[in-house]
Amino acid sequence: MISESMRNTVRAKGLGALMKGAGLVTRFIPIPQPTLLVGPGSSARLGQAIAGFGHRKILIVTDSIISKLGLLKGLTDALTAGGAHFVVFDEITADAPIPLIQKGIDFYGEHDCDAIVAFGGGSSMDASKAIAVAVSNPKPLNQLAGYLKGLRAPVKIYAVPTTAGTGSEVTVAAVISDPVNHKKLVIVDPRMVPKMAALDPELMTGLPPHITAATGIDALTHAIEAFVGNWTTSYSDGMALSAVGLIFENLRTAYTDGKNLEAREKMSLASTYAGFAFTRANVGYVHAIAHQFGGLYHTPHGLANAIMLPFVLKYSHSAIVGRLALLAVAARVGTPGEDDEVLAQKFLDAVDQLNHDLGIPTFLAALKESDIPALAKAACHEAHTGYPVPRYMSQQECEDLIRKALPPKVAPAKPAPTKAAPAKKGKKA
Ligand SMILES: NC(=O)c1ccc[n+]([C@@H]2O[C@H](COP(=O)([O-])OP(=O)(O)OC[C@H]3O[C@@H](n4cnc5c(N)ncnc54)[C@H](O)[C@@H]3O)[C@@H](O)[C@H]2O)c1
Ligand SMILES: [Fe+2]
Repeated sequence: MISESMRNTVRAKGLGALMKGAGLVTRFIPIPQPTLLVGPGSSARLGQAIAGFGHRKILIVTDSIISKLGLLKGLTDALTAGGAHFVVFDEITADAPIPLIQKGIDFYGEHDCDAIVAFGGGSSMDASKAIAVAVSNPKPLNQLAGYLKGLRAPVKIYAVPTTAGTGSEVTVAAVISDPVNHKKLVIVDPRMVPKMAALDPELMTGLPPHITAATGIDALTHAIEAFVGNWTTSYSDGMALSAVGLIFENLRTAYTDGKNLEAREKMSLASTYAGFAFTRANVGYVHAIAHQFGGLYHTPHGLANAIMLPFVLKYSHSAIVGRLALLAVAARVGTPGEDDEVLAQKFLDAVDQLNHDLGIPTFLAALKESDIPALAKAACHEAHTGYPVPRYMSQQECEDLIRKALPPKVAPAKPAPTKAAPAKKGKKA
């Protein structure tokens, strides 16, 4: 009789071979890269450039917070000065829900647009990418999820990220959410990569610390998962290591001193570099699990990653010691020449310490024991059908790992001590 552990070994070997094969193929798929404008005021410079491209009408896609904060002004003033016509759709909310993307698609058509500026965090950027694919390929959005499901090329996109996290300004992916089925869906198409992107640190100085923290760890997770997976290339390695160095050097400053333009700019670069790394080398179990938390509990993506990253790295440790050692050197928490095991442990400790310094909790408050089997099943399915993970996880192992993120049990309140009846004074009856 074949035991469950033998079955898992066979599955792990089969999956490893399959993913290695897929990696060999994907490394030859050309991925376009946007022209990058970097530095304070670059969103206005992007506006100047786009105004000269002769678009009929540009749709700017963003969320209402960004719109109310006045962050669009540099871009829109430059578009107006250059004589370009544009309309603003600012109704996107967290995780780009399908009904709002549909509204954006209708808005695009009503205004006869021919290009999109994706302006915001990953939610606005990914909604923009989904709109761009769907207007060229009119199909229900959930039928566009997956690899290259649209026949025709998406309309032109330009991007202005306002968080330093997702790297969506350079990636082939758009993550959207299906609120009916509580699922996140991924659309993958290299033609969705924006033509130009502006990394403007001035737009990020008002980003609240907890969002700076979570999005910064999202970027770190992209870099790490790309670096420890099985699809690495020398290009993705270079990008991932640069991103890790910049994040360890600048994320704490961006968190505690949000107005520090240098730290903000370096975090934007780190996020973009990590995007370059993972759009080539992909992600792993941290993302596979985080997407399930996002779909079911609406946990912000960066926070979900931040909570799971230490657990997944510790699980994968034995398979990636050498890689963790290199990450320790890139993060400057160890020096070349130290023993790999020592360096690897230093990197794991440094990730724990970074999370702690950024106020990231060690558990997910919304997580319920009864949800864990289904969460693990969906996460394993996502990982095993697309991610080149360095160490295979069985359903049981994934459940055990997710269980580590359960909130601590609150001890039941002790019953109040019953007061002894005061002795009656006076004569006994
Ligand atoms: N396409 C990709 O390659 C990719 C990669 C990783 C994550 N994602 C997806 O991106 C989404 C998350 O994006 P996110 O983490 O950037 O968050 P987000 O876009 O949801 O924004 C988070 C919050 O920050 C606010 N905000 C954004 N920029 C601001 C600024 N400059 N100042 C003040 N407030 C600001 C937003 O209004 C929002 O309330 C998730 O759906 C995730 O799955 C996509
Ligand atoms: Fe991510």
